[in-house]
Amino acid sequence: VADADVLDLAKRRGFLWPAFDAYGGAAGFYDYGPLGAAMKTAFENLWRHIFLHTEPLPMGEVFCPRVTPYEVLKASGHVDEFTDLVVKCQNGHPMRADHLVKEAGYDGNADALSQAGIDVQVVALKPACPTCGAKKWTPAAPMNLMNQTEIGPGSGRVGYLRPETAQGIFTDFPLLLRYFRGKLPFGAIQLGGSNRNEISPRQGMLRLREFSMMEAEVFFADTNAPLAAFAGVAKRTAVFVPNTTEKAVEMSFGEAVSSGMVCNQALGYFLARTQQFLLLAGMDPKRLRFRQHLENEMAHYAQDCWDAEFYSDRYGWIECVGIADRGCYDLSQHAKHSGRVGDFTYRLALADGPRFEARRVEVDAGKLGRTFKAQAKAVAAAIQQEFIDAAAKVGGYDSVAGLGSVTFEGQATAPATLHVTIDGASVQVPADCIKSIEEGTFRLDARNILPSVIEPSFGVDRILYALWEHAYEAGEKNGEPYIRLRLSPYVAPVQVAVLALTSKDGMPEKAAEIEWQLRAAGLRTDSDLSGNIGRRYARQDEAGTPYCVTVDQDTMQDGSVTVRDRDTTQQERVASDALVQYLRRRCQPDHA
Ligand code: GLY
Repeated sequence: VADADVLDLAKRRGFLWPAFDAYGGAAGFYDYGPLGAAMKTAFENLWRHIFLHTEPLPMGEVFCPRVTPYEVLKASGHVDEFTDLVVKCQNGHPMRADHLVKEAGYDGNADALSQAGIDVQVVALKPACPTCGAKKWTPAAPMNLMNQTEIGPGSGRVGYLRPETAQGIFTDFPLLLRYFRGKLPFGAIQLGGSNRNEISPRQGMLRLREFSMMEAEVFFADTNAPLAAFAGVAKRTAVFVPNTTEKAVEMSFGEAVSSGMVCNQALGYFLARTQQFLLLAGMDPKRLRFRQHLENEMAHYAQDCWDAEFYSDRYGWIECVGIADRGCYDLSQHAKHSGRVGDFTYRLALADGPRFEARRVEVDAGKLGRTFKAQAKAVAAAIQQEFIDAAAKVGGYDSVAGLGSVTFEGQATAPATLHVTIDGASVQVPADCIKSIEEGTFRLDARNILPSVIEPSFGVDRILYALWEHAYEAGEKNGEPYIRLRLSPYVAPVQVAVLALTSKDGMPEKAAEIEWQLRAAGLRTDSDLSGNIGRRYARQDEAGTPYCVTVDQDTMQDGSVTVRDRDTTQQERVASDALVQYLRRRCQPDHA
């Protein structure tokens, strides 16, 4: 299918329109028309169905502002690292460097090239500027992709339009932890718009400067621990492209994790949930795969990351979901930068924690200060450090969240002279600077940790494009061009069209009555009275409507209707009292 055909249909039928068209449009911006907006809403609700309503892990939805203060995005790393490499031709036209070399024939993964690597390729491949044809380029330079704004006119307070919805969730972590009664794991989801000031968006819906995301941030004490819910998905199979071989292999999610290819069950679980969702939404299973990011391709926050990719006839394999193990990167950053370490810290209680041998010393701060003056702080820290080092060996210390809780299992001993090492020199601490000494076995009762995060992050617009392309079928019917959009009933903008066979004998009124009954049952409906019934079916096929209900003479007698299936074109007679159930079972995932 050509991209132009899909976008043509989308434009003609009111799925997708170029934004600000009356003024010539603006690259990287689209509007959803009535059918597109209805589909987008249905699609987002299907996502909620999987990631919120039927997710066995505790989940909650939040909605955070799009304008985000500088401090938040400085902490998250976006101010310094959310960049793409840009090159400019001799006439000043900017191009995203990796796209330029890829289009010029570079057959590796251009996204993973370093700045120097890009420059080498530009010199070797001599790509022509797509705008003016020039072949001389500046060296590559990083450009930040965030749209900057000001919070409050004239305030000088810098903000950005968020580049991902995730940061709102991370900064809410202390409040979420309280909401979920202090227990892990739990997750928060957010659906909403984000902005990236893309350098040269020339790929239709695939690269937008303003786009919609659906993100889940699921917090775990330890993403490497076994996850009970994983058993429910372990037998599903998928195609994986690991970064070790870069070759496609089909296997179960269970094998993918047990072989170590996918780093843990938590990540494997969300890969599988992603697949479940995409297939329900109508993605072609043969055109879906999971590709692991190359080491040098991963975002600054990711420990491991897999993309769900769909195959597009026009564009090849395209990323549409990123499923990342972000570790504790984000929470550590916000804990440090906000100065509210305690609020971001989770106390992980241990039933029978590990033991370790150590010496814990309580100093008399006043006497230590009088004895050591300027050096007192360093002496106290060195004494404390000894204990921290011992606790760290059994995982009792986190560099940001600090020391966990310990119990001393022995008897305190009398204060005595101690020796500590400061800057390589041994320092003697007299007994009168010490209040108590506990030397012997300690038990670790709780770890102070910053939770780790698994993040499935969905690009809404790209996936909608994929669904259109995968559903698109063009041919001929009765000598006329005919297009059918085989959309999943769960996301189709119209699920049922109710058509009166003729405009006589009370049929339109009966059709309207049935339509209202279906709407009341939560189905998305449409009606159409213009043209013969064949033409009306064809119009609905093109809009992706999976079922047409036709009201005819018999309906006027006994209330029964015919239901036509878009894909088989078979018609079935359905009794009036069975109609709602018949359609709900086919159109609503909770009834599937
Ligand atoms: N939050 C993932 C991303 O922005 O791609």
